[in-house]
Amino acid sequence: MTTLVHVAFVGLPGSGKSSVGRQLARRLCWPFMDSDHVIEERIGLSIREFFEREGEDAFRDLEQTVVDELTAGSPCVLSTGGGAVLRKINREHLKQRTHAVYLHSPPEEVFRRLRHDRNRPLLQVADPLARLRELYALRDPLYRESARFVMETGRPSVASLVNMIADQLEEAGVLPARPE
Ligand code: S3P
Repeated sequence: MTTLVHVAFVGLPGSGKSSVGRQLARRLCWPFMDSDHVIEERIGLSIREFFEREGEDAFRDLEQTVVDELTAGSPCVLSTGGGAVLRKINREHLKQRTHAVYLHSPPEEVFRRLRHDRNRPLLQVADPLARLRELYALRDPLYRESARFVMETGRPSVASLVNMIADQLEEAGVLPARPE
């Protein structure tokens, strides 16, 4: 099948953007891109190390360049970093150039998944749940502004989420309907 569009995932860290994105790409036989991985390949460092050495603003500049390139490049399924929506230009690129899906997870759910995570620089604080609640309050409207679809991540497995997203994309005419 030829890919004609970009499908992008936005949402809090730990909402499943990479795992759902990767499985959707596999199912559609589309390329999968993860903006955080592209950044890490370019800088030759982990994002956590880059944050420590260069700071968040430098990371956001790189992220803006990569989101611009990936949303303008060949069509793919794209997973974005949880803070990509902080910059207006990224929100515009996601909204205008992609069919973006917001994987909506309440902060308490994300906290359950990420409480042992040591790689996400923004969560290496004394009270990560309080931090996630702040991130959610700030970002939930920005994810909604960037996305065309909102999916609740609560109960369904990754496989059922992928099915539901594929159905939504079919209904919206983004994907051709599957034969009965
Ligand atoms: C960030 C989320 C991370 C990564 C960076 C900053 C954020 O991506 O881009 O650590 O601001 O929420 P994930 O959402 O994949 O964890």
